[in-house]
This record gives sequence, C-alpha cells and structure tokens, in this order.
Amino acid sequence: MGDTGAMTATTITPPGQTAARSARGSYWITTFGCQMNKADSERMAGILESMGYQQARAEQEADLVLYNTCTIRDNAEQKVYSYLGRQAQRKRSNPHLTLVVAGCVAQQEGESLLRRVPELDLVMGPQHANRLDTLLAQVEQGQQVVATDGHHILEDITTARRDSQVCAWVNVIYGCNERCTYCVVPSVRGREQSRLPEAIRLEIEGLAEQGYREITLLGQNIDAYGRDLPGITPEGRRAHTLTDLLHHVHGVRGIERIRFATSHPRYFTERLIDACAGLDKVCEHFHIPFQSGDDEVLKAMARGYTIDRYRRIIDRIRQRMPDAAISADVIVAFPGETDTQYRRTLDLIEEIGFDQVNTAAYSPRPGTPAADWSNQLDEAVKVARLQELNALVERTAKERSARYLGRVEQILVEGINSKDPNQVMGRTRTNRLTFFAAARPSTDGVTGATWQPGDLVDVRIDQVRAFSLSGTLA
Ligand code: SAH
Ligand code: SF4
Ligand code: F3S
Repeated sequence: MGDTGAMTATTITPPGQTAARSARGSYWITTFGCQMNKADSERMAGILESMGYQQARAEQEADLVLYNTCTIRDNAEQKVYSYLGRQAQRKRSNPHLTLVVAGCVAQQEGESLLRRVPELDLVMGPQHANRLDTLLAQVEQGQQVVATDGHHILEDITTARRDSQVCAWVNVIYGCNERCTYCVVPSVRGREQSRLPEAIRLEIEGLAEQGYREITLLGQNIDAYGRDLPGITPEGRRAHTLTDLLHHVHGVRGIERIRFATSHPRYFTERLIDACAGLDKVCEHFHIPFQSGDDEVLKAMARGYTIDRYRRIIDRIRQRMPDAAISADVIVAFPGETDTQYRRTLDLIEEIGFDQVNTAAYSPRPGTPAADWSNQLDEAVKVARLQELNALVERTAKERSARYLGRVEQILVEGINSKDPNQVMGRTRTNRLTFFAAARPSTDGVTGATWQPGDLVDVRIDQVRAFSLSGTLA
C-alpha cells in the first residue's frame, strides 16, 4: 500500500467536474461499535490519505463516505440503515459520491446490502480493511464491489491516521473462535488470526518514535493470543501467549503505559495476573466481561466458566494489585433468564464492586443459536431489568470513585476537554477519566497552558463522580 501514495495515484475526475482540492477529494468516516472497529477505521483513514484523500470538514461535503458498522445488537444495525438512507439520497443528486459500508454489518449482509441500498459502491467485511485501496481501485473502474470472503488479514503496512496523539490501539489478534450462543462476532470477524510478536513490537516501537505514550493491545478474546501460532516451549507450553507478548513489548522505550482488552474469564490465567503485577507499565485495569451472575445462564450462553472461577480471578487480581480497577460487560434478559437468575447478576455487581460495567439487554442476532430459542423474554422485562441494572452500575461506580478523593493520581495527559477548553483531560492508570485546570498562572502572572499531550502529571483529586474525576495539579 505504501507505493500507491498521492503522487503516483491517478486522479479520476469524473466528466463535468473539476479536479478536487486534493488528488482525490475528501473523505468522511463514521465508526460504530467496538475498539476493533475504531482501530480498523484509523487504518482505513490512513489508507485513504495515502491514496490522496483529505479528511472532509463535514459529512455532507465529503466525496467519499465510509460507514464502519457494528451489528452486535439490532439497534446498532438499524442505526446504520438510517445513516445510509440519508447518504443514498445525497448520492441521487450527486452521483460522484462514493459510498462504502465496511465492518460487521457489511460482513453479515454482504450482497443483500446492495439490493437494499443500490447506491452503494463498496461493501467490505472487517477482514478486508487493509485492502481498502485495492477495492476502491475496482470501484474507480466502475464496479460495484462486495468483499466479504474469508481473508487472511494482511500484515498492517499502512500508517494509520490515529485520532489520539498519545494513546494507540494495537491489534494483536483478529477474530474469535468462541461460540457464545448470543454472539454474532465469530461469524462476522472470522477465525482467530494472531499477529507475530515481532511485527507487534515493531509497530509499538514506531508508535513510541511518533510520541505515543500508551498502547492498548486489542483482541475480541485477547487471552487467545498466540494459540494459532506454531511452537511449543521446552516446558511444553505454547510458545506464544499474551503473557509472553506483554514481556516482549514491555521494554519499548517511550511507551509508559500498556493496556489490553478484552479478557475472557475462561482463559485468564494466574500467570497473566502475576505478569501484570510484575511489569510496571501494565496498568491496573482489567476489562473482564462476566455476562451473567448465574451459572445456568452462563452455561446456556456457552461461556465455559462458572461465577466461582470469575470470583477467583478477581480475588487473585486484588491480592496482587489491591487498587486494580475492574470493568465488565453484562447481558440481562437472556432467553429463559428468571428473575432469580437476573438478581444473581445484580448481586455479583454489588459483591465485586465494579468500576465500570457495559450493560445491554439481550438482542437476538441472525445466525446465532439463542435467537432461535422459544424462551425469549418480553421487551418490557428487558427494559425494566436494564434500567434497574444501570442504576446499580452507576451507584457501584460512584462508590469505587470515592476512593480517589484526596489522593494524588498519576495522569497521562491526552488533550483539552472538548466540552470545556479550560480543562485538560487525561486518565489514571486505572482508566478513570480525569480533568484538571488547563493553565496555571506563571510567576509573572501570565496564564499559559503548560501541559502537553503525552505528559505524565500528578493530580490531587478533589471531586469524584461515577465515571470521572476532577482535581488540581499537585
Ligand atoms: N469478546 C468480548 C465481547 C464482544 S461483544 C467478550 O467475550 O466478552 C461486546 C459485548 O456485547 C459483549 O460482551 C456482550 O455483553 C454484548 N453482546 C454481545 N452480543 C449481544 C447480544 N446478542 N445481545 C446483547 N448484548 C450482546
Ligand atoms: Fe462474542 Fe463470545 Fe467471542 Fe466475545 S468471546 S466475541 S462474546 S463469541
Ligand atoms: Fe460490533 Fe463488530 Fe465490534 S459487531 S462490537 S463492531 S466486532
């Protein structure tokens, strides 16, 4: 992809239109869904820029609109259709607009998306993200393109256009081999594909050189990292695990913080916990979805662990890292979930004291086993359970936030608070969003912003809220 830069790219200027400001015009990407999609969008933006596209000032002005879509729940999927409807209408009056649907809805729907929205130029699954330039070349030849076949993901040789200058996502494993009965991810993201540790380290070294300070290693089931790579150690273990990868990348100079997500309780090991405790750049924040507080429901979900195992993981983490933040995902109103079973989820949230929980009511997804079961719950039950759950999550988060009051926390500065330019925004090691005053009077009384994105500063916390903190420089 490196050799198709703006200088060598042929500009296709449709008849009757003058050449655009940049070689190809402007692009707009809207990203739905998880961090995987955010990372893919950043790489696709990098590809577009290397082809000569510039970021548009507004969606309605863009020459190319790309939706990177999510289908985890029905409402996520429906949102895409409403966005698409608006652009399809725009295309009818501006035929030179290029319309792309990427990501998980693209993979799920494939060709049928073209029937639904004939204005589309390109439908591409997540495994094709790194091939965007090749696919657009076909579009430029006048084809309507669908790329959803299973694909060995190309090693990322593009330069991503990242939203942050400080924190970067680094994919380490694509896909998911689990078969949770509610989940559409394995069918849209495909089989697990781990990147080689050398390639991952090289990418991180490059990020450090560009000034990045924090990296988040990404995978849908990051604990599966390496199980598709060959090799056995002399002790008979597999040669590539997440624990080994953490050791492998820990030494990169310039990187101050390392995070990883998402962890799966079935595969989360004591060896990993011990490594996290011993490696000082690995932050004390663990995102470990438990999905339900009831063993029967977990079994119906095919999650492969019990609540007891989950408790043991959390205990071990807190033994080794007492201040660790724990976050999770949970689903309520799974088919057949009784009120008693649902209450066990609430009890577990109370018992563990989560710092953050992403909540959802169960949504039947096409092609997943649970969608065909006859014991689906009513919408009213879903709404009621979700509301009660959300209130509890907020309360426990607030209780967890309280511990920061009066403490001095190390904050990695990310930038100015977009909602208040007088505030700097950053995060604690435990991933709590933290705000503090942007400027301090210098000795001559002139006020000036003295903190750069990427700085590590000590902030005394004097206000706590459920999901964020405020303070003053210590
Ligand atoms: N790989 C991660 C999560 C991926 S999807 C894991 O195993 O935990 C992100 C979250 O969406 C899931 O954790 C789950 O809580 C939620 N989710 C997935 N499918 C869902 C569905 N059909 N209905 C409601 N929530 C769902
Ligand atoms: Fe979905 Fe389960 Fe894979 Fe997570 S581990 S992505 S919930 S199938
Ligand atoms: Fe959504 Fe696809 Fe992520 S379905 S949650 S964007 S893997």
